[in-house]
Amino acid sequence: MTDNGKLLGKERQGRLSTASRRIYSEELLEFMCSGWAETSERNSVPAEQSVYTAKRRQALSAAFAGERLVIPAGIAKTRVNDTKYGFRPTSEYVFLTGDRTEGAVLVFEPNPAGGHDEQLYLLPRMSPDSSEFWLSGRGELEAGRRRSLTETAGELGLAVEDIGRLPTDLTEAVTARPGVPSRLLRGHDVVLDTLLAELEPDRRGPREVGKSIAAEQRDQELKANLAAARLVKDVWEIDQLRRACESTMRGFDDVVAELDQAIAAGERWVEGTFWRRARVDGNDVGYTSVCAAGAHACSLHWVRNDGPIRLGELLLLDAGVETDTFYTADVTRTFPISGTFTELQRKIYDAVHDALEAAIAAVEPGARFRDYHEAAERTLAERLVEWGLLEGPAHRVLELGLSRRYTLHGAGHMIGLDVHDCSGAPREDYVDGVLKAGMVLTVEPGLYFQPDDLTVPEQYRGIGVRIEDDILVTEDGRENLTAALPRSADEVENWVRSKRRKN
Ligand code: GLY
Ligand code: MN
Ligand code: MN
Repeated sequence: MTDNGKLLGKERQGRLSTASRRIYSEELLEFMCSGWAETSERNSVPAEQSVYTAKRRQALSAAFAGERLVIPAGIAKTRVNDTKYGFRPTSEYVFLTGDRTEGAVLVFEPNPAGGHDEQLYLLPRMSPDSSEFWLSGRGELEAGRRRSLTETAGELGLAVEDIGRLPTDLTEAVTARPGVPSRLLRGHDVVLDTLLAELEPDRRGPREVGKSIAAEQRDQELKANLAAARLVKDVWEIDQLRRACESTMRGFDDVVAELDQAIAAGERWVEGTFWRRARVDGNDVGYTSVCAAGAHACSLHWVRNDGPIRLGELLLLDAGVETDTFYTADVTRTFPISGTFTELQRKIYDAVHDALEAAIAAVEPGARFRDYHEAAERTLAERLVEWGLLEGPAHRVLELGLSRRYTLHGAGHMIGLDVHDCSGAPREDYVDGVLKAGMVLTVEPGLYFQPDDLTVPEQYRGIGVRIEDDILVTEDGRENLTAALPRSADEVENWVRSKRRKN
């Protein structure tokens, strides 16, 4: 076994270091390791999604017959020295297992009789009579009870092994069958990346000398396959996305109800209010919320969220709740903090709303993915010409792409386990492809007049508006999953006026 192999097993099992043995007396070690009640195995119930994850694994197995596939959950990133960021497993791992265990690895070993043997490796429970229990830094005394391997197997419907066995199993498999290529979801588990690089010659060496191209291509194809497999959601995923949208809409209501506190405390209050809903209803936010008051709305990725909130301005909130199963919504509303749009704010808002309606109407099975983008851009280009901000006719503006100075971004993307879901899917399946029933996407036109943009009259400067809904493509058209959230200018004004609590 290589050094990295040892590390993979030892680190993850959290074996007690010799240094710890020197620090603690034998008496304390013995005391801490005794006197604990037996904790019994729990009955595990198969997870609701295990039927679906099994089908997804079956499809992946069929796509890569005769090849080894290695899909890690990933490792938590360090925030500062011994403090980590909250762990979020790779979407690919979640898609195939429904599990969330840090450091776990799913391996598909091709079976000579056909298909694959699927094996999940993860950290087992630690016996309290071992010092690992309290000294490993990941022991159950510190981090809480883990599921046993048997419990996990019952829940996920997968064969489960101790992660400590992975280096040996992988080494033996690769050595015994040198003709079987491996494909790895790389870049998420450095120890695993290194171990496979040591085992497979075409993973070694700097890329410049061309030694790792073949493996890189294999890995890339695995990633692309898993991205494309997520384009059409199954019924369980659609239900998760519905829940994400419902929680997200509750979060928007929370924010509007706390606008007075937000005016006193600034954008951070908005961020905190939405995040509280995300944690209460789901796992987290699906991406950093954009809580942009006034001219901050013109910065597409305004995530500093540290500005003031003033009456008379607009607040753009782009936020999504991620369910406990890791599916996220992606919703934007822009509303007048006072409850009333100014005439110009309303004119700009109405144009974006018209673009949203035109784009949503263009979402249907068989339509090109690009169609709804074009519908949104056309509507906005026409308004920009009408207002004298761009020289017409509109088709010239569109041909030259001039409206992009003020619209800045495309009109939407797939959502799912990632906010920008399926982004690695082949172009012909996604951006150059056609819509299919079961896809879930955002429609999100916007207009942004930067505070220092000398090409527009002064009164436009510093106004940014985006409206973003989440749309399910159905057999005969579309369903707006966020339809219950106020959208037209009148609805938005009434929403703010009625929800906002008076102090
Ligand atoms: N919230 C990111 C986006 O709208 O694409
Ligand atoms: Mn968004
Ligand atoms: Mn979006």
